[in-house]
Amino acid sequence: MNYNDITESVILLTKETGLFLKSMTGKITEGMIETKGQMDFVTDVDKKTEQLLLDGLALIIPESGFIAEEGTYTHRGSVYNWIVDPLDGTTNFIHGVSPFCISIALMENEELVIGVIYDPIRDECFSAFKNGPARLNGKTFTTSKRNSLNQALVATGFPYTDFSLVDAYMGSFRELMECTHGIRRLGSAAVDLAYVACGRYDAFWEYHLKPWDVAAGIVIIKQAGGMVSDFHGGNNYLFGETFVATNSLIHEEFLNVLKKYF
Ligand code: IPD
Ligand code: CA
Ligand code: CA
Repeated sequence: MNYNDITESVILLTKETGLFLKSMTGKITEGMIETKGQMDFVTDVDKKTEQLLLDGLALIIPESGFIAEEGTYTHRGSVYNWIVDPLDGTTNFIHGVSPFCISIALMENEELVIGVIYDPIRDECFSAFKNGPARLNGKTFTTSKRNSLNQALVATGFPYTDFSLVDAYMGSFRELMECTHGIRRLGSAAVDLAYVACGRYDAFWEYHLKPWDVAAGIVIIKQAGGMVSDFHGGNNYLFGETFVATNSLIHEEFLNVLKKYF
């Protein structure tokens, strides 16, 4: 398997499909929106985008299967599976706010080997593959070199559908508000992870995330020199729903804050 060639094909596919997403920006009407759960929305555009992406990915690796948010295809491949969020940041998209993105990862057996995140509005494509460089529009990058929380800009996602850990979350939020340069909430977890990877942010945390929110970002952050874990520093971060990403230098300090609340 040539990861570099596959990554280039996925980048082309996300850019083509991103044109469709961009063309639909600001055109979402009430009739195009469905409610999946409390404050959890999906539009016709999420579904159409997923169809376009999965059809394209099936051509890139014919024997592959899918874990895709909108469930367009659900069959699993014996070795290769794509993990796809066709539109991460749907709420932003519905309201005509940026950012939103396409997020695609390839899993080989149980290992994530390719990640691509494409923001069609800024035309920014973040990508990486196993043992390769992390890139933004072809240019190599690394995570930031800030080595203490008091120099860090951190990002998060607010709880919006699962409030079971909201008190613990608010405790960590308050402490991080007081001991960092600031906290940002853009509304797309995949874009947040891309920004940690390329050093715009130094860290990110959120609970109740799904594999398609984080899979591509995990590959890109690791290849850029960063670190990911669950809230307890463990490896249950892809399916485990609590997620921390840092530039690696402040990972322990960040976990020490979370430990007090979770
Ligand atoms: C959501 C976004 C958001 C995050 C949520 C995700 P969606 O994904 O990434 O930033 O806070 O947890 O579910 O629903 O827009 O694909
Ligand atoms: Ca998502
Ligand atoms: Ca989505």
